[in-house]
Amino acid sequence: MSQRKMEESLQYSKLKDMADEKKLFLEKIIWVHHWTDSLFSFRIERPNSFRFRSGEFIMIGLNDNKKPLLRAYSIVSPNWEEHLEFFSIKVPDGPLTSRLQHLKEGDHLFLGKKPTGTLVTDALKSGKRLFMVGTGTGLAPFLSVLRDPETHEKFDEIVLTHTVREEKELAYRSFLEKEIYSDEIFGELLGNRFTYYPTVTRSEFRTEGRITDRIRSGAFAKDLKLTSKKFNPQTDRVMVCGSMAFNKDMSSMLEEHGLKEGSNSTPGSFVIERAFVG
Ligand code: A2P
Repeated sequence: MSQRKMEESLQYSKLKDMADEKKLFLEKIIWVHHWTDSLFSFRIERPNSFRFRSGEFIMIGLNDNKKPLLRAYSIVSPNWEEHLEFFSIKVPDGPLTSRLQHLKEGDHLFLGKKPTGTLVTDALKSGKRLFMVGTGTGLAPFLSVLRDPETHEKFDEIVLTHTVREEKELAYRSFLEKEIYSDEIFGELLGNRFTYYPTVTRSEFRTEGRITDRIRSGAFAKDLKLTSKKFNPQTDRVMVCGSMAFNKDMSSMLEEHGLKEGSNSTPGSFVIERAFVG
């Protein structure tokens, strides 16, 4: 065995001991993709026994001075996918993301054993249209929910909005605009039942501005040919995921429209979760 291989194997057994002690999985990174200087995605192998509901989050992390340093991350993958994908910002002095961004294929990551969260269709009463409204990395759980066949059984129409500062931050855009339609399972199913609606706040774009402003002004309803600029509490269900301020603004607006927040124990007409921030 080469010197490097021996060091790697020693390093792996140390991490594995720590994972076992803390009741965590230790999983291999199999893919890393950098979207911009501040955004990246990565995939890890999925343990056979790891089950989750599409839209949930899980703790992931690294070894920090002989202790696992863990943060909550929404799972981008739908619950049927073989690997687990995550979408992250890079915070230069963020304790975890400043290190996570340097990970490469073959490295290992701690993975928690208890996925949880409220951005799941179980926390919503049945309805006709599902709106998933996100900013920044708040897109992550929606990529999971969107690719779960149950979502399509539960709703006739699905709208996914993503608001970012600059156009280049529209991660997954080509997947949502094109590639998803060539997907074996979803291509046909999505057809004209799915709308991807990106908005950009700090540079020119065809749909400019905060999604909250576009909803209030009626621009969103006009673009989507909706009959009302208000959500309908009888038929519309909304999932919200973004910064604290965004979540607060969205939930006030939804409550003004007569929608009620739901949870796993009491399903409602909208659900909210804060996006991971670094
Ligand atoms: P803005 O550029 O007008 O602040 P951030 O990078 O700060 O998390 O923001 C991501 C996106 O979410 C930005 O486009 C930002 O718009 C938007 N945003 C931030 N706060 C709110 C809010 N309270 N309501 C609606 N959109 C928001």
